[in-house]
Amino acid sequence: MSTAQIRRIVLCGFMGCGKSSVGEALAAHLKWEFLDTDAMIEKRENCSVPDIFREKGEAYFRRLETEVAAVLSEKQQVVVSTGGGFVINQENIDTLLRKVEPQKEREKEETCIVYLDCDFETCYQRIKNSSRPLVKTKTKKELTELFEQRVQQYRKIATLHVSNQSLISDVVVKICEIKSAVGA
Ligand code: S3P
Repeated sequence: MSTAQIRRIVLCGFMGCGKSSVGEALAAHLKWEFLDTDAMIEKRENCSVPDIFREKGEAYFRRLETEVAAVLSEKQQVVVSTGGGFVINQENIDTLLRKVEPQKEREKEETCIVYLDCDFETCYQRIKNSSRPLVKTKTKKELTELFEQRVQQYRKIATLHVSNQSLISDVVVKICEIKSAVGA
């Protein structure tokens, strides 16, 4: 990447791909703030994600994600771990990519979206016993189908694709190949 003005790194990928672990390590490395969209939502609502799904439904949760996208678009020097469905909504991506100077071309983009590429089985082993609402309500086959659909979107919208099969430190190093662009 040759951009010189990246102010936000946004990690996307399926549940269990390691966005939070990589995001925390990356933020520490860059000395940037680490934010997690699910944690931001839980704080705003004073309620856990499973409880939000149960009490108010998934559509309500998705609206909260869009509100959080607007908050994030104003932040600088942040590494953001997104929930697995966050970047599936094009509105959230458009908001995140909103430019301070909209008339400027691509080199002025401020948000770098990184896809943490991890195979389904690895993700599944990590999430299968968790309290994630989608895991609780879907069969393994349904989750596989969801994975297949979403991977296409992750690949399409991300500026950088990083395999998350390796050590977190290796992933951080890989992402930091854009470090010069970040100017950290
Ligand atoms: C979701 C993923 C979860 C959380 C919510 C919905 C999804 O986040 O946002 O349960 O739609 O894939 P993680 O990807 O951090 O598990």
